[in-house]
Amino acid sequence: MKRICSLLLAALCAQVFIPAGAQSRPAVTDSKVEDVVKAMTLHEKATLLVGVYSYGRNPDGTTRKAVPGAAGGSAEISRLGIPYAYYTDGPQGVRINPTRKGTDKTFYCTAFPIATMMASTWNTDIVREVGEAMGNEVLEYGNDILLAPAINIHRNPLCGRNFEYYSEDPFLAGKVAAAAIQGVQSQGVGTSLKHFAVNSQETFRRENDARVSQRAVREIYLKGFEIAVKEARPWTIMSAYNQINGVTASEHHALLTEVLRDEWGFDGFVMTDWTDFPRNTAAQIKAGNEQLMPGLEVQVEQIEEAVKNGTLTMADVDLAVTRMLRILFRTPTFKGYKYSNAPDLAAHAKLVRRAADEGAVLLKNEGGVLPLRDKNAKVALFGFGSYKIYQGGTGSGNVHTTGIVNVYDALVEEGFRVHEDLAAVYDGVKIDFKIGEKLAKLRAADCDIAIFTIRRSAGEFVDRREIKGDFYLTDNERASLTNVSEAFHKAGKKVIVLLNTGGVIETVSWKDMADAILLPWQPGVEAGHTVVDILTGRCNPSGRLPMTWPVAYNDIPSSKNFPSNFEGNSWKKGPVRDSFDPNKRNEGFTEYEEGIWVGYRHFATFGVPVSFPFGYGLSYTTFSYSDPVVKAGKKGAFTASVTVTNTGSVPGKEVVQLYVSAPKGTMEKPLRELKGFAKTRELAPGESQTVTISFDTYGLASFDEALNAWVTDAGQYTAQFAASVEDIRQSASFKVRKASVVKLSAKL
Ligand code: GLC
Repeated sequence: MKRICSLLLAALCAQVFIPAGAQSRPAVTDSKVEDVVKAMTLHEKATLLVGVYSYGRNPDGTTRKAVPGAAGGSAEISRLGIPYAYYTDGPQGVRINPTRKGTDKTFYCTAFPIATMMASTWNTDIVREVGEAMGNEVLEYGNDILLAPAINIHRNPLCGRNFEYYSEDPFLAGKVAAAAIQGVQSQGVGTSLKHFAVNSQETFRRENDARVSQRAVREIYLKGFEIAVKEARPWTIMSAYNQINGVTASEHHALLTEVLRDEWGFDGFVMTDWTDFPRNTAAQIKAGNEQLMPGLEVQVEQIEEAVKNGTLTMADVDLAVTRMLRILFRTPTFKGYKYSNAPDLAAHAKLVRRAADEGAVLLKNEGGVLPLRDKNAKVALFGFGSYKIYQGGTGSGNVHTTGIVNVYDALVEEGFRVHEDLAAVYDGVKIDFKIGEKLAKLRAADCDIAIFTIRRSAGEFVDRREIKGDFYLTDNERASLTNVSEAFHKAGKKVIVLLNTGGVIETVSWKDMADAILLPWQPGVEAGHTVVDILTGRCNPSGRLPMTWPVAYNDIPSSKNFPSNFEGNSWKKGPVRDSFDPNKRNEGFTEYEEGIWVGYRHFATFGVPVSFPFGYGLSYTTFSYSDPVVKAGKKGAFTASVTVTNTGSVPGKEVVQLYVSAPKGTMEKPLRELKGFAKTRELAPGESQTVTISFDTYGLASFDEALNAWVTDAGQYTAQFAASVEDIRQSASFKVRKASVVKLSAKL
């Protein structure tokens, strides 16, 4: 009898979940999910909880198809009409194979500006627009979930993946991530906010134990995730490889259930990062990590075994399966979407250019050398990056794109005369070499201006190093820049430096040699066009730094607790790493000794000079700020307004940064913290705009470890309207009349 019932039920469910396309499918409601779960066998449930490699097997043994190059996905259970779901990287665009066997059609995707550059726009509208375009490519290339955005904190400039991350400040990171998620998910596909959490280095990332205080973990490393989860509801979260205070993130119940779900209300599912060895599978499921990626068949057996021996209850498994199905039933694949394999890459490239134009940061412009006024100028173009720009970083975040526009091409296209001999020089050598005095003098004689590009590449698996050629210039770069600078300045001509990097390098020792410094980061496929748009003034730069550029590496608080010169990396040593030593500082474990003192929180509070401060960026025009006002609303809400006027001679956009200084209380607090920002529309000379920024008492709170609570002291606060963390233009004080305490139970 029992068997008949289960067959009937299966038939019922089969009716409800006929595979996509067979017939119109009734809208799936959550109540139906329970029916499906009831109809599933343990083997089917276990298979769903374990990712299926691109060419893995389904529970019925059929080989799973996949979008070639997609990172992974979830299995199909055709008996119940549960289709695959395809997951693809990454933060800079869709990563799939650009070519496939059996067809000469190509499947290139758009390389958008790197995450750090998107944060540098300080413009959540353009971030959302880029998210929409990225989401459209996820959809039209037949995928369901984009494994992005990544919002780990720039704790140290040498983290290899900083290009994929937004900022040293969790508020900016969280707001930008929320906009990106909203953009992508507006296309009906999902995101995977990653890597949750405290994944701040690549060196031994799968084993490293991040030892971090409760206050720092809450205020710095979780706050961005909290903002993004609450404001944008990502379909999924990717747990990090590392440990947090001795507990592996993917097995961390406090992190994945008590904080993520009980405190923040997350209603999607959690997948692990791509781990090619099983960890404690039962502990992961119990902790609230539903899917194990990329998925090993031994993990399916481990789940089944755990249920049989009672380590896992069927209720644990059903909860995990339910959480996954609720998301999988939203996917385009489930809905039978007929994707085109032909997203509008040309339109997306135009958006890349517009977004990169907003994210490029002008760091120096002595004597107004920029914008270039003489389009007929003869340009001496130095540096490999002038001829082969890095559009992005390396690793799983790299996009297979085509048609990258270089600086050289864009200058020629714009009508500039670019000295051809130099192109040949750079084309002829593949290693770091020196521009000698003689060549520099020759070019200074027959060219009108020098443009010198310094490029750096970094990426997943390996952290950067505090050495020449990475954080520092090479000897040849320094000598070349010195020769070019001396020769051109002697001839009364100017030198422009372009920084084609994914992150911070040392600048103080050479920046005086340049008249102008433009930071176009790694701007994606339209790279050269963005450089020329800014150099010619077609676009007035409005990017602002999302992290501090220090004078010296050792000024960075985390510098003594970071593997800044580790030569190997864990990835290439395989899962059992003979050189891994759990007791080795900065490899087996990393002490987050600096606590909350990350980035400007440290430099501004303790008055440590920097080369370029957080929030800094120049414009071709100037702005004044007036009429600062802070008004208290209901239930602890506030609005802060200020009027910005373009006091210069060309149109431009301003980024108003709202910092708040708290009254002296029992806890030591940063001098000021970013609590809001707003980018104006393009203001004509003389035009004004009043910007209004909302915040609330919860947003002003500091984390009190003794109480394990968010505490907002009562008292007099100061709102500062600024053009950078060091450039306060207007301020206004306001009162928090009643202290507030939000007590928490979870501890990490
Ligand atoms: C990698 C990365 C993660 C990426 C995943 C799939 O290990 O850490 O960011 O999404 O694997 O490629």
